[in-house]
Amino acid sequence: MAGITDATFLNKVIPFGFDVATLGGYSLDSPSIEASKKIIERGRKEFVFPLDETYNHIEKEVTSIKNVHRNVKVSANVRATTPQPIIELGNIENLDIIEINCHCRQEEITNIGCGQEMLRRDDLMDFISQVVDNVNCEVSVKIRANVDGVDTLKIANLIEDSGADYLHIDAMKKGVFEADWKLLEKICNNVNIKVIGNNSVNSLGNAEKMIATGVDGFSIARSVISGNLAFNITNF
Ligand SMILES: Cc1cc2nc3c(=O)[nH]c(=O)nc-3n(C[C@H](O)[C@H](O)[C@H](O)COP(=O)(O)O)c2cc1C
Repeated sequence: MAGITDATFLNKVIPFGFDVATLGGYSLDSPSIEASKKIIERGRKEFVFPLDETYNHIEKEVTSIKNVHRNVKVSANVRATTPQPIIELGNIENLDIIEINCHCRQEEITNIGCGQEMLRRDDLMDFISQVVDNVNCEVSVKIRANVDGVDTLKIANLIEDSGADYLHIDAMKKGVFEADWKLLEKICNNVNIKVIGNNSVNSLGNAEKMIATGVDGFSIARSVISGNLAFNITNF
């Protein structure tokens, strides 16, 4: 999830030791697709497919990965203003995890109440529970930590209570070039949901710091995309 996440790319990367591969993020309804188009207009690469093509596209991508790496879990990271399109996608055969994006901070997305703005929505718990109750796959919720005015631990507790399977947390802290290790530790000590830590795992040292927080797993975006992953993740 850092600009290139199609099956062709993921099939090349998985052998480096990943056990989950994430496709996307995809925008699934008219408001999020319109927002993504505006983002593209200012030069960002985002994935935009017409509404009726997204399902088929993801189904094809999942199959392309599963054909090569049968035991790897495939996840799709998605943005939508309501649970319904996420539920539809969550029923794709062989898709292991649907990941609700409560993380994107692009203004066009937050303006429609999506991405990290989801963390402020009164109906967040209900939104996630509806997805959990109506899909055949696991549910992950990807959040950004330290969003102004948002209590990250409270949100983590809410996500656990909603019945989701994973809390995927970009432990970004403004002005710091490493993850907020202390916050991750606090969250891991106070929730029972599986926590996937994310941010700045770009060296063996940072991977070790990430593991020391107590996370159940971690994800890597930029250093994988850059081709500069400087350590062997099969050690973990
Ligand atoms: C160009 C780019 C695109 C991204 N797109 C997404 C996305 O669609 N969905 C998402 O959840 N995170 C997205 N991210 C965030 C990354 O998945 C990750 O959370 C972030 O880069 C921090 O992790 P890292 O230090 O391993 O890169 C994107 C990041 C970059 C740099």
